[in-house]
Amino acid sequence: MDWVLSMTYLWLKAGHIVFVIFWMAGLFMLPRYFVYHQEAAEGSPENALWLEREGRLLRIILWPALIVAWVLGLALAWQTGAFSQGWFHVKLAAVLALTAYHVWLSGYHKALGRGERSLSGKQLRMLNEVPGIAAALIVIMVVVRPF
Ligand code: HEM
Repeated sequence: MDWVLSMTYLWLKAGHIVFVIFWMAGLFMLPRYFVYHQEAAEGSPENALWLEREGRLLRIILWPALIVAWVLGLALAWQTGAFSQGWFHVKLAAVLALTAYHVWLSGYHKALGRGERSLSGKQLRMLNEVPGIAAALIVIMVVVRPF
């Protein structure tokens, strides 16, 4: 029984890390797409192409990776009793912030579809620091566990 539980834990963790990588890759790519998208003229064929690329990235990579990373992460937390540990609370706060960022990016994509371009290329490039900072904090929490 112990063997089954430890194998389940290892497979869950491997799957969790794989889908976190997919999720993070998508989070780094999408704002870059927005920068290139906004360089295309409104209503041009290139504009339509970027909208389609962003939609595909969200549908095929970002949303499925977010869901699977969450499901496997929560299963790991349940299996290890992480819910009562300080490092996990900080990690959870950072992951919720990343999830909110993801939802905001999805909204920005829809706004681009309506022809709204509320941020400059420079602002979008700066926003691209968000997933990197959150990922560094999360990895320190899960590996170093300072609390
Ligand atoms: C989506 C919600 C998430 C939940 C609920 C969650 C939860 C967990 C839990 C409970 C563990 C197991 C820790 C242990 O072995 O005791 C874990 C491992 C891990 N998580 Fe997450 N996580 C999430 C997202 C993320 C994100 C966004 C990242 C990175 C950016 C990440 C990186 C990792 C890594 C690297 C490990 C392996 C740590 C190790 O044991 O060496 N997780 N996660």
